[in-house]
Amino acid sequence: MRSSKSTQTNFQKPRNKREPPAFPFLADFLVRASENQFARKVLLTLPTRVLRRPSYPLKTPTVARVEVTNRCNLSCRMCLHQSLEDIGDMELKTYRKIIDLLPKTVSYVNPTGFGEPLLHEDIVDVIRFARQRHKYTEIYTNATILDKEMAKNLLASGLWSIHFSIDGTTKRTYEGLRRGSKFETVIENISNFMAQRRKAQNPPQVVMRVVIWKNNLHEATRFVELAYNLGIKNVLFQALQHFWNSELNKPEYSIHSEEAIDHSKRMFRSTQEKAQEMGVKLKLPAVNFCPKIRCSQPWYLIFINWKGFATPCCAVYDVNVGSILDQSFSHIWWGPKLVSWRSQMKSLWPPTHCRNCGDR
Ligand SMILES: C[S@@+](CC[C@H](N)C(=O)[O-])C[C@H]1O[C@@H](n2cnc3c(N)ncnc32)[C@H](O)[C@@H]1O
Ligand code: SF4
Repeated sequence: MRSSKSTQTNFQKPRNKREPPAFPFLADFLVRASENQFARKVLLTLPTRVLRRPSYPLKTPTVARVEVTNRCNLSCRMCLHQSLEDIGDMELKTYRKIIDLLPKTVSYVNPTGFGEPLLHEDIVDVIRFARQRHKYTEIYTNATILDKEMAKNLLASGLWSIHFSIDGTTKRTYEGLRRGSKFETVIENISNFMAQRRKAQNPPQVVMRVVIWKNNLHEATRFVELAYNLGIKNVLFQALQHFWNSELNKPEYSIHSEEAIDHSKRMFRSTQEKAQEMGVKLKLPAVNFCPKIRCSQPWYLIFINWKGFATPCCAVYDVNVGSILDQSFSHIWWGPKLVSWRSQMKSLWPPTHCRNCGDR
């Protein structure tokens, strides 16, 4: 019979002196993580993240954003455009080629990228061509050069939807954010467009698009009133994206930050009430932090810049996942770069762009 002493000795795990003790390392990691607002939220919501991983069906895309130009006549405070170096236009023949290279599942084409699409000299042909290929076409514009002639041509082009980007309801706020613009001109251009639209056959739907952040949140309800006065029935608030600019990536600008969240919710509630009262359809961004990335853009949308390079979504400009002019579409869509981007988005540590995206 063996003694209890010998049993203990036999089963003792040999101690490796070089191995760092696990607990202090973990404690150090947790302390460091708790200093970072994002990491803190991830840790606190870890159980939900693991249990409720997003699972989107992976299909071929239905939407294509094809940037026909990244030239712009404004320098908006919040826009990534100001950090671009490579500026230019896509030729009409290249655009047509790209439209024909896209899979048949793409039924929506938006020729807007990080520039002003109306500056492209062939913008009406760009829309007309996509329409001829049986695609719904949509553009976003700052409306600064939307004169009567342009309005008439756009209304006759087969355009399905137009978004007017307006980030202030007063001259001061608007011109302060949309640097280089003139508030009165933009309002006059939109009013003229809406007047012509009333007489048009198959008029496009019109949306007022607002980047909502601390600098214009106080005007939230007034955007609905402005839209109503212009005859616009849809207002869309888009949360500020700031991953590309450390100056903007500060809690004092965000509508989601801990200090701002209650105020944002209150403002959105009263804006929703105003919209209901005026019969305006309002789309608001989510305010609460969600542990998982809600966005599913890379599963249904492809963004192609003016040089033909594809990126995972319309807000990620510096990640190139392939050239549609040099590779087949399916090589890009199912290629290692886009596949790994998607799986990173589903992981516990998504790409920085997504972590700091207003639409996450
Ligand atoms: C890049 S612009 C290009 C089209 C056009 N120049 C315009 O202003 O509508 C497309 C949309 O992105 C929005 N946008 C610009 N900077 C943004 C940001 N930091 N976060 C979210 N949306 C932004 C604009 O307000 C606009 O509605
Ligand atoms: S938001 Fe539009 S108008 Fe303003 S700088 Fe960006 S691309 Fe130009």
